[in-house]
Amino acid sequence: MEKHIFCAPTIFGLEGVVRDELKHLGMEDVAGEEGRVLFRGTLEDAAAALVNLRAAERVQILAARFEARTFEELFEGTRAVEWERYIPRGCAFPVRGHCVDSQLMSANDCVSIIRKAIAVRLGSVYHAERLDESGGVRQIRFTVLRDIVLLHVDLTGEPLHKRGYRPHAMEAPLRETLAAGMVLLMRYRGRDAFRDPMCGSGTIPIEAALIAMNRAPGLLRHFSLEDWEGGAELVRAAKDAARSREYSKEYDIEGSDIDPEAIEVARENARRAGVAETVRFRRADAREFVPPEGRACVLLNPPYGVRLGDGFGAAELMKSFGARMASAERCDMGILSADPELEQWIGRRATKRRRVYNGMLKCTFSMYFCGK
Ligand SMILES: C[S@@+](CC[C@H](N)C(=O)[O-])C[C@H]1O[C@@H](n2cnc3c(N)ncnc32)[C@H](O)[C@@H]1O
Repeated sequence: MEKHIFCAPTIFGLEGVVRDELKHLGMEDVAGEEGRVLFRGTLEDAAAALVNLRAAERVQILAARFEARTFEELFEGTRAVEWERYIPRGCAFPVRGHCVDSQLMSANDCVSIIRKAIAVRLGSVYHAERLDESGGVRQIRFTVLRDIVLLHVDLTGEPLHKRGYRPHAMEAPLRETLAAGMVLLMRYRGRDAFRDPMCGSGTIPIEAALIAMNRAPGLLRHFSLEDWEGGAELVRAAKDAARSREYSKEYDIEGSDIDPEAIEVARENARRAGVAETVRFRRADAREFVPPEGRACVLLNPPYGVRLGDGFGAAELMKSFGARMASAERCDMGILSADPELEQWIGRRATKRRRVYNGMLKCTFSMYFCGK
């Protein structure tokens, strides 16, 4: 099968997690960059990546990478690509993307130029003056970052954080990919107890349960690759292979929240994700949190002043919670927060820190490893 270079865009800060996931899946030439990880493989590999990757946002073919400072350079660089390898006769090819820190600043103008250049290339290869676009869609995505143009053909459709289990979410829900990335950064694999004492819609414990069971995150959803010739079979085979690798053991995974409505939503989401038997939810106040006695991982995304409630309330809450965790000697703990004073409120400095973006919010993921 023909090999391609694929690009898996990630939330800034999770590149290393996605790189490890791809290596674990056996992909070749895996290399992390700012906000993306590249790898080499066949469309069969792409199907495996779509079904199994937990922390990446998409999987797409990297069709071209070149420097462009003018519309002419953008046009010529785009026209030189063998688009007929990716866009069959009769397919529509909508274009979307963005420009960052580049001479080419207008994304709308870039969309028009790229579309025109692809149409010229396909028109000459398919000997057509007007291209028919009535049969199928190939979404083209571009990035112009510091004058380097990246042209991609998407294989994903809805972004990968849309697993298909969370139609309902409470205020300020976390992306599923970020939740999974944090669970992986905490090195939780299902052996120890797991707690999220401010679970909201349940995203973190649900992703922890999927990881504990080795259940692939993409089993419930459709991918654009399935609309390619032979793509549906590749995705079906990747899903079957993933199902055969699932475990079923006893797990101690719990989410709690002070808001009873959040607990209802979290239970419904867990049911949809197929982990209702693996994770339990209950209403509880984190100011009275009792850490598990044995080895455990506690992971949370507390309300921060800038998103929910006010800054003062968040400080009091985190001081009380920090006091409850002070004697938990066998607990690893991870906290995602946009509040710079978080570690002062908790009363301890983190062992490790990582900057990540939660939506548009610059956050710190503070990790406390107890060395158990
Ligand atoms: C940022 S949200 C968590 C979002 C969650 N990770 C999700 O994906 O939906 C913070 C949560 O903390 C909860 N919370 C606030 N004060 C609390 C307290 N004292 N005890 C427990 N939960 C609390 C809120 O109800 C809210 O659901």
